[in-house]
Amino acid sequence: MALLSGRGNRHRSDTAPMVAARRRLLDAGVFDPVAQALAAAIDPEAAVVVDAGAGTGRYLAAVLDAAPRAVGIGLDLSKYCARAVARAHPRAIAVVADLWEPIPVADGTADAVLSVFAPRNVAETVRMLAPDGRWLLVTPNPGHLHEVREPLGMLEIGADKLDRLHADLTAGGLQVRGSTPLTATALLDAEQLADLAGMGPAGFHRTEDELHAAAQALTAAAEALPVTLDVTLTVAVPAAN
Ligand SMILES: C[S@@+](CC[C@H](N)C(=O)[O-])C[C@H]1O[C@@H](n2cnc3c(N)ncnc32)[C@H](O)[C@@H]1O
Repeated sequence: MALLSGRGNRHRSDTAPMVAARRRLLDAGVFDPVAQALAAAIDPEAAVVVDAGAGTGRYLAAVLDAAPRAVGIGLDLSKYCARAVARAHPRAIAVVADLWEPIPVADGTADAVLSVFAPRNVAETVRMLAPDGRWLLVTPNPGHLHEVREPLGMLEIGADKLDRLHADLTAGGLQVRGSTPLTATALLDAEQLADLAGMGPAGFHRTEDELHAAAQALTAAAEALPVTLDVTLTVAVPAAN
């Protein structure tokens, strides 16, 4: 089931081609190490899991498989994402929502909130979290996709990103339980490299032809290019715990 507010909003929402590119890459298993790390970090007894900025719902589905009683609520600004989330798992529902507005989830009800490569509203997440709830955040490290960021027109990742995350969480009344780095290598062909760029902000400011040309140039010497996944999984809980 997908719920839409019917209202427009002032943020730019992921387009159908961007969501399709993300889905192709995730379905190919390129980001499975991230899904597995999230599934391992979820409390199997969780009853309500909120994925804030759920994208295609792939990570929410992996977490729901690891929490067999849980219902998942996938929030995303993009109606294309909401449609994908609604189909991602039998226990997932999708809501089109702007994370910078009051989030339509009751106070203290979320056993877990996921924020995977997504905007984070600390105050609203603290409000939604149950007293013993967990916020699982996945953020990119400076080495993430470093082989292809510049040629594919992807934004640089600041070296202080993790410090800033910890400062934001602590200032918002959370305690960081731990931050675990996770690295893996993915072998990507030209189509997948174009998808990698096209599913993110480069998908807004570069044409598909430009992305394909850049991806072809990167794979001119070999059929596929090894690309580094380099992220951190952070677990934060309400500070009173
Ligand atoms: C980089 S994608 C990550 C998606 C998913 N978590 C994943 O990793 O595959 C960021 C997601 O946040 C959503 N998003 C961006 N701004 C948002 C906002 N203000 N409110 C809700 N969702 C937003 C986008 O539509 C997109 O699906």
